[in-house]
Amino acid sequence: MPESAGGQAPLKWQGFGLTPEQAKILSVDDNEALRYSVVRCLRDAGYEVLEARTGTEALELVKEMPDLVTLDVNLPDMHGFQVCRQIKTDPNTSHIPVLHLSSTYTDPESRVQGLASGADAYLSEPIDRAELVATVRALLRLKHAETLARQQAEIAEGARKEIAELNSRLEERVSERTMELASANASLRELSARLLQMQDEERRRIARELHDGVGQLLAGLSMNQALISGESSKLSRRGQKAFSENVAMTEEIVQSIRTMSHLLHPPLLEEMGLRSALEWYVDEFSRRSNINATLDCGTVPRMDIDLETAIFRIVQECLGNVHRHSGSATVTVKVQSQDGQIEIEVRDQGKGIPVERQHEINAGGRVGVGLRGMRERVARFGGRLEIESSETGTTVKATLPSGALDSAKDESRAQGAASD
Ligand SMILES: Nc1ncnc2c1ncn2[C@@H]1O[C@H](COP(=O)(O)OP(=O)(O)O)[C@@H](O)[C@H]1O
Ligand SMILES: [Mg+2]
Repeated sequence: MPESAGGQAPLKWQGFGLTPEQAKILSVDDNEALRYSVVRCLRDAGYEVLEARTGTEALELVKEMPDLVTLDVNLPDMHGFQVCRQIKTDPNTSHIPVLHLSSTYTDPESRVQGLASGADAYLSEPIDRAELVATVRALLRLKHAETLARQQAEIAEGARKEIAELNSRLEERVSERTMELASANASLRELSARLLQMQDEERRRIARELHDGVGQLLAGLSMNQALISGESSKLSRRGQKAFSENVAMTEEIVQSIRTMSHLLHPPLLEEMGLRSALEWYVDEFSRRSNINATLDCGTVPRMDIDLETAIFRIVQECLGNVHRHSGSATVTVKVQSQDGQIEIEVRDQGKGIPVERQHEINAGGRVGVGLRGMRERVARFGGRLEIESSETGTTVKATLPSGALDSAKDESRAQGAASD
């Protein structure tokens, strides 16, 4: 901590009700009689007085920091003007007022010279006692005002330095916190991207397991049933009925396992690309949900599988929301590719997202995990997501740069490698 403004030495005198008892005056004169008379006069006025006979003695005693010096001009060892100049050029004593008193140098030129050598006032014999005390008082008042001003300037300077210091520490803290926040945000982004990627991989794995594992067993079951059906005449009528029911149920299981597997991860996506996978999915959605779903898809180039998966998942999530929340009888899915951008729009004619829900979603609350997932997916590829909703329907629009996908993929690969 810098020394605070409050740590300044207290003012020697408070206010202007000067208390002469506390003022110390150095009186310098080699003439005993004159010095005696001055000292007496000052002591009578209530001042503490130190005495010196020579210039050398005066310069020694001035180190005791008197509040004022009365200085004879004609001293035995050195000239009074010279003593004055030395007092005034030493930074430790320069603030002490010097009052020249002279019985020999009474002419105007000497006064001018005395004042020019730094003295604050000049009185010459015959010196009137009242005038002497009044001059001393006036000089002390001036000195006091100067001291006060200097101390206040020091206090102000101290406060300014303290504020500047606090300010710079505050700025430092703010920029530290901003950096911490930015890095926390970045790692959160990374984590959610990684989670989404893991979710996709997991869905792909389960889909394959269903298709290759359970699907193969069911195929075996069907083949055995085909074999048995050739000899079903040997069964009783009840047995024949139960057997044909088994055949029908097996066919149903095969269908639903296939649909489940495709919904989890459409194999068409990897083999035929986004357009075919969306055509299949939208048809399937329409058939199962009784919602009239149409796909408007221009020519979409083959893209990186991660980007195609992200787009497919976005459409999937949107259609899921239309089915669960909108109450709409119709929905259109539009996919357009132009100028290196791919634009996906899912528009329904349902009741819309309730306004308070929209506020919660925008505030990033716990609701809207599906929408937030979409946002994360889009952000991973440097795109943007817009949601418009009113009582006449909801439109979700995602725009992604199709060229940015390689770097996003490289990045996630690098992360995957780092964490393996
Ligand atoms: N198409 C839509 N029509 C009406 N409301 C919707 C629609 N899509 C989303 N919502 C509202 O927004 C909320 C958040 O959606 P979402 O993030 O997908 O979470 P979830 O579907 O798990 O509730 C939903 O709970 C629903 O209230
Ligand atoms: Mg949802």
